[in-house]
Amino acid sequence: MSAEGERRPVTLPRLAEMKAAGEPMVMVTAYDYPSARVAEEAGVDIVLVGDTAAMVVLGYPGTEPVSMDEMVMLGRAVRRGAKTPLMVGDMPMGSYEASNELAIHNAQRLVKETGCQVVKLEAGGTSVERARAIVRSGIPVMGHVGLTPQTATALGGYKTQGKTAEGAIRLCEEALALQSVGCFAIVFEAIPAAITEAIVERLEVPTIGIGAGPATAGQVLVYHDLLGITTGRVPKFVKRYAEVGEAMRAGVAQFAAEVRSGHFPEPDQVYGVEPAELSEFRRYLDQESLSSPGAWDWEPLS
Ligand code: KIV
Repeated sequence: MSAEGERRPVTLPRLAEMKAAGEPMVMVTAYDYPSARVAEEAGVDIVLVGDTAAMVVLGYPGTEPVSMDEMVMLGRAVRRGAKTPLMVGDMPMGSYEASNELAIHNAQRLVKETGCQVVKLEAGGTSVERARAIVRSGIPVMGHVGLTPQTATALGGYKTQGKTAEGAIRLCEEALALQSVGCFAIVFEAIPAAITEAIVERLEVPTIGIGAGPATAGQVLVYHDLLGITTGRVPKFVKRYAEVGEAMRAGVAQFAAEVRSGHFPEPDQVYGVEPAELSEFRRYLDQESLSSPGAWDWEPLS
């Protein structure tokens, strides 16, 4: 029986229970129906329709360009594939910063149009205020501190955060502020393990780490990174659990080679027809009227 058959949907009280019991939470990103099915069948606790979709599935150079419409389309596919994990919809850049009204409107869009139960937004600028507004509107919010890709330029690039005492204090204050406005959990990204450990001890809400060491209540990785689908350099915190990209490239290359050499399709991949039906069809084709040029010209019925 699949993990789905045995599992009940993961709820916010269940996450709080897991944190209290010291049971590690597993979160993975998903961006379409097949990745959501994999997450479901592997029994993960949380799926994040992350704005990393911008890079790993849409081919943008960063997360900044992805739109609400694109996130909604991806989220709807994920919902069709994942039934039991808690589903988090990531709010893309530009969907929440300008006003509380905009933030609530777009958080509601994600929930109503994709079926995610909660949303995530990145820390920085107006985020604490926006998180408070969304929480007050009735939608649970996951915060995100440390390396926040939407504002990576302002942070000096894709760099580890909280490496200085001053930076660590800022991170700690941001995490406490997000907790105080009601965030039910916080992602910690690219932060030295000892800094994470010191901050999470002071937090009550669960934390999910990505490049933040082992002290967080859970861990998240980007689907394409952990499965080895991503090409090129990946961050230090990525561990590859499979080389799916290599297998995909080898499979497509072999298909191309077999088509070119005439080895595909083989008898196993072709449909047969009853010999009598084939003979009758051939007799029809062999009629004088059909074998002459122009016989296939279509003429309207008069
Ligand atoms: O968008 C995303 O995938 C994320 C994870 C890296 C946590 O925010």
